Amino acid sequence: MTPAPFRPRLQAVGTADAPFERMLPADELPLGAMRRVTRGELDILLVHTEMGVFATEDRCPHMSAPLSIGVLEGCIVQCPLHEGRFDLASGDPAQMPTTGGLDPDGVYHPTWSPAGRDPKVDPPGTKAEARRLTRVRRFRYYPVRIVGDQIEVAFPA
Ligand code: FES
Repeated sequence: MTPAPFRPRLQAVGTADAPFERMLPADELPLGAMRRVTRGELDILLVHTEMGVFATEDRCPHMSAPLSIGVLEGCIVQCPLHEGRFDLASGDPAQMPTTGGLDPDGVYHPTWSPAGRDPKVDPPGTKAEARRLTRVRRFRYYPVRIVGDQIEVAFPA
């Protein structure tokens, strides 16, 4: 088990010189597993992929649903709401949510429906406007290290 690499500019704010803390025994996160661990008011998602272990917030980059109860395929996590799929390897959305909205670069994507389902009607109004203006973020990553049989994560002081 090793920490997974991530783009340096996607490192969580305040973690550059942050101390590491024990989060989970390594044997509780086998390959292909996701776990939520909580520290104070932060819910962290630990994910063990072929690339290594990632730590990011356990909040969907769309509307904050817990990704830990979603589905993991390789490095792609599917959110339990709205069918959004997010790539841990790049930090980017791999599939926009059914609600549409803005991608991380601010480009608008329309609503869509999974195959076999009728298109969802999105009546105009404040809620539709809110969905249209909701921007999917990129993941932010917490540094991880493996010390002995423990997974440790760096948190801002
Ligand atoms: S909250 Fe995850 S896709 Fe919408």
